[in-house]
Amino acid sequence: MSKLRVLSFAVPTDGYGAGPKQDLQHPLGVRGPELMEWFFPTRAWRKMQGLDGGETGRDNAMAEQGFVGIGAWILGRNMFGPVRGPWPDDHWKGWWGDEPPYHVPVFVLTHHARAPLAMAGGTTFHFVTDGIHAALERAREASGGQDVRVGGGVATVREYLRAGLIDDMHLAVRPVLLGAGENLFAGLDLSALGYEIAESVPGERATHVLVRRK
Ligand SMILES: NC(=O)c1ccc[n+]([C@@H]2O[C@H](COP(=O)([O-])OP(=O)(O)OC[C@H]3O[C@@H](n4cnc5c(N)ncnc54)[C@H](OP(=O)(O)O)[C@@H]3O)[C@@H](O)[C@H]2O)c1
Repeated sequence: MSKLRVLSFAVPTDGYGAGPKQDLQHPLGVRGPELMEWFFPTRAWRKMQGLDGGETGRDNAMAEQGFVGIGAWILGRNMFGPVRGPWPDDHWKGWWGDEPPYHVPVFVLTHHARAPLAMAGGTTFHFVTDGIHAALERAREASGGQDVRVGGGVATVREYLRAGLIDDMHLAVRPVLLGAGENLFAGLDLSALGYEIAESVPGERATHVLVRRK
């Protein structure tokens, strides 16, 4: 059975996976980019931007692993973009330009139906309005037997954790305090939900914590 995985999910030491006030100017919320400072210098991130070079240390190795063996993704609607409520039109096509870095089917959880959106490079965004189990079923079907990655955001990862459906989760824990935003852990007893820490590995700009089912 393919796994349901959270990979390269960045959190500050106080657990906020996104800063407050997400909007067009602040895709990750205010101060959110501080979470990603482990990722931006890596070869993996630069490759996603079509750029050469980049660091090739532990942070990069962890980031690169996040794209291996993934046959489909699941995202929350807020990670897909800043539009809230009913879609006014089909103008918004994600943060990632004409060729998003997924290259496989991506299932976007939302309460607002929308037709599938085929992008260059093999990414098709499918909008799923019937919940996390339906999204997972469709993602598994589309994944060709490979793993499914829950890309985020915070609410979506929390829903899958609360349902006990995540098999493993790699957190890139940054040594910063955000103080506000969307907290990954608030009110979530991961131990009672059946999870434990498998490993903790220092990288250049983040500590990589691997969480797995007991
Ligand atoms: N730290 C990281 O590594 C990381 C990774 C990825 C993303 N992020 C950040 O996380 C933030 C987004 O996270 P978020 O917690 O605000 O939101 P999110 O999880 O991306 O999306 C939540 C929205 O998705 C829809 N949704 C979720 N579950 C649903 C369900 N069961 N049925 C129907 N619709 C459902 C709802 O939208 P509607 O009701 O409006 O349709 C809900 O408001 C962004 O700032 C993003 O940049 C951080």
